[in-house]
Amino acid sequence: MSKKFRVFATCDIGDSIELLRKRGYEVEVYPRPEAPPKNLIIEKVKSGVDGLITTLRDPIDAEVFEVGKGTLKVVAQIAVGFDNINRADANRYKVPFTHTADVLTEATAEFAFFLLGSLARKMWPAEHLTRENRWGYWHPYLPFLGDEVTGKTIAVIGTGRIGLALIKKCSGFDMNILCYDPAYQNHEYVKGIQEVMDLRQARGIQKEKTWIKYVSLEEALRTADFVSVHVPLLREGESTTPTYHLFNEKTLRMMKPTAYLVNTSRGPVVDELAVAKALREKWIAGAALDVYEKEPLPEDSPLRDPAIEDRFRLLPHFASAARITRLSTDPNKGMAGRTAQGLIDVLEGNYDGDVRKMPYVVNKEAFGK
Ligand code: GLV
Repeated sequence: MSKKFRVFATCDIGDSIELLRKRGYEVEVYPRPEAPPKNLIIEKVKSGVDGLITTLRDPIDAEVFEVGKGTLKVVAQIAVGFDNINRADANRYKVPFTHTADVLTEATAEFAFFLLGSLARKMWPAEHLTRENRWGYWHPYLPFLGDEVTGKTIAVIGTGRIGLALIKKCSGFDMNILCYDPAYQNHEYVKGIQEVMDLRQARGIQKEKTWIKYVSLEEALRTADFVSVHVPLLREGESTTPTYHLFNEKTLRMMKPTAYLVNTSRGPVVDELAVAKALREKWIAGAALDVYEKEPLPEDSPLRDPAIEDRFRLLPHFASAARITRLSTDPNKGMAGRTAQGLIDVLEGNYDGDVRKMPYVVNKEAFGK
């Protein structure tokens, strides 16, 4: 390598940092676990770094690209979501940014499924009962019962990679599946799942016939026992199909009072005040959130209301937080490995230096014909 590339990482991404250094890169890692202040990112970019390693808590916009003019060549994001990066600004300054799709698909989908299961089967209140020595008897229905997941109907809101992976898992639990996506439908995948369902029933692997179909949002919400959200965060003006507050008082009221909501996508897709109200007033049976409008969850958040605690699970943006998924240096397995490879592809001009051919670059549209 003729040039020694300089990189600033806003967080540690494990062994992949050492691998970049072994490759000759000069990598500075922000040493603290929380996000660096934005002015530090600006200062580093101003000092002429070639690449940034960022994550979902770092705001990357025109202010950053402006000071990096002529020097900043790539932003490599360790996350699949990139709503913290202003795509229009990146495009205007012609800076490619990369993300880590695919490697966290299964981990996130299984986490959504586990949340749904632990919520419906009341594992958290049941464990509390045991730990607090309030388990006084075995009784057919006291002190409470949960709801089975097997054989129920789920609405999968968003049928991109993670939504489709969840569908695959739900089909193994003999569930009926309602699909909704405002922007992207995969009818071939849905057809394949139906064939698998039919084969399982024909061979006696599942008793009942089950089905999968695309429906409107309203039909999905009115019919489902479980609703799991897997859309990107798109604010008004960013898309013809924005997802900001897709779950609000109106849509939450469409859900059945026995239904459960799970969100592992992005916090602002769900209006938190509306969810707290829906739980307090029992419009829905329960909810589990892994992501929030503001992260970390503020101490005075209404979501912490003890009155809804037994029906409401709160997780710390944790769905992709599995060892291999987060830290493997293999770009086909780990978010860290994929981040480093995305950075290398751009800086070292892989794929004949053609950004549009680089698999992890998101904003290919900015790089003409
Ligand atoms: C996590 O939320 C991600 O986008 O990877």
